[in-house]
Amino acid sequence: MTLRDRRILLIISGGIAAYKSLDLIRRLRERGARVIPVMTAGAQQFVTPLAVGALSSGHVFTDLFSREDEQDVGHIRLARDCDLVLVAPATADLMAKMANGLADDLASTVLLATDRPVLIAPAMNPKMWSHPATLRNAETLAGDGIRFVGPKAGEMAEGGEAGLGRMAEPLEIVAAVEALLDAGAGAQPLPLSGKRAIVTSGPTHEPIDPVRYIANRSSGKQGHAIAAALAKLGADVTLVSGPVEIADPPGVRVVHVERAEEMLDAVVAALPSDIAVMVAAVADWRVATSAGEKIKKKPGEAPPPLQLAENPDILKTIGHHAARPKLVVGFAAETQDLEANARGKLKRKGADFIVANDVSPATGIMGGDRNSVKIVGNDGIEAWPDLSKQEVAERLADLIAKRLEALR
Ligand code: CTP
Repeated sequence: MTLRDRRILLIISGGIAAYKSLDLIRRLRERGARVIPVMTAGAQQFVTPLAVGALSSGHVFTDLFSREDEQDVGHIRLARDCDLVLVAPATADLMAKMANGLADDLASTVLLATDRPVLIAPAMNPKMWSHPATLRNAETLAGDGIRFVGPKAGEMAEGGEAGLGRMAEPLEIVAAVEALLDAGAGAQPLPLSGKRAIVTSGPTHEPIDPVRYIANRSSGKQGHAIAAALAKLGADVTLVSGPVEIADPPGVRVVHVERAEEMLDAVVAALPSDIAVMVAAVADWRVATSAGEKIKKKPGEAPPPLQLAENPDILKTIGHHAARPKLVVGFAAETQDLEANARGKLKRKGADFIVANDVSPATGIMGGDRNSVKIVGNDGIEAWPDLSKQEVAERLADLIAKRLEALR
């Protein structure tokens, strides 16, 4: 198997063998892998983030509390958004942290948060490796399912001392990465693993004054079910939800917003993504200037007029964005001319297909548990039977996985 397009999260910890990690990055990339480097503070004493960044052609993650990287629970995303976590070199200190579940910096936190296979290449002085504490930690880690490559016997980089503790050579590490990924490949990866998805859901609330707002009848049930269904197929999902009464779905990252403008900001902040499914019933208009204080009734005066301003169209913005996801799916809530309106939205908003539903009160769809949709694409229209919202979500997630596969 080749390493083409495999995402390797490479954690470099602080040992002299870190200089070999530079070559390791090259070797992995020569085989088509994408390398996402994380460096501990110690590693930065031996090689610079600049060198690591230049070789990996990307951002080097160093800080658990980086505002920029952590805006979107970055360490959790880092921990999951890869095919394998490789620690090279793995120092005695990092192994001790791993064995004890410590998480006091980015590297150790990622190692605690990951659900991906972990391969470590220990490197340390032979006395440190043979210390009962390190051997105990190595045994614990092996018991936890952590894989090892090395350490090897030989001369230490610092010279003078020989024994077990030398980091495996980059090519040996690459071979171990390939073997581990090959072994995992038999287990059939989920159809959307490694893919990112953004889903919007629920209504938006547009304030009139501090106590009143404009809303709609969306419950969020359909959008939330879609986010959960995509996560079940292995996608890394960010759900941007308006105010809803239902619980956050399991296994997805949820960003709660109130207004359409906030929803747009949250969606754009979640880019890049492979998939966008815009399910939210976004208010088309907001109150042009919402009052800072509660608007009072004035005896004898006419009710205050509400001046409306148009909200940004989130689907349209994403459908035409420079970082447009490969697959953009919109919804169309209609009470008349369902198909013609959906086709219009498909074109206007730059979507790949539109899930159209009739939200006339008689259908009970808005707020209800069932949905009856038509999939409107450039290649025609497919009517689905009346289904529960969960069934619609599961069928839609399958369809998205198939379409994405066809786009490869
Ligand atoms: N949408 C959006 N941002 C908006 C309005 C709508 O992202 N400001 C998205 C919805 O999430 C949905 C699609 O656009 O995926 C269509 O929404 P719908 O309410 O059916 O259409 P509108 O664009 O609001 O058009 P109209 O009110 O004319 O039907």
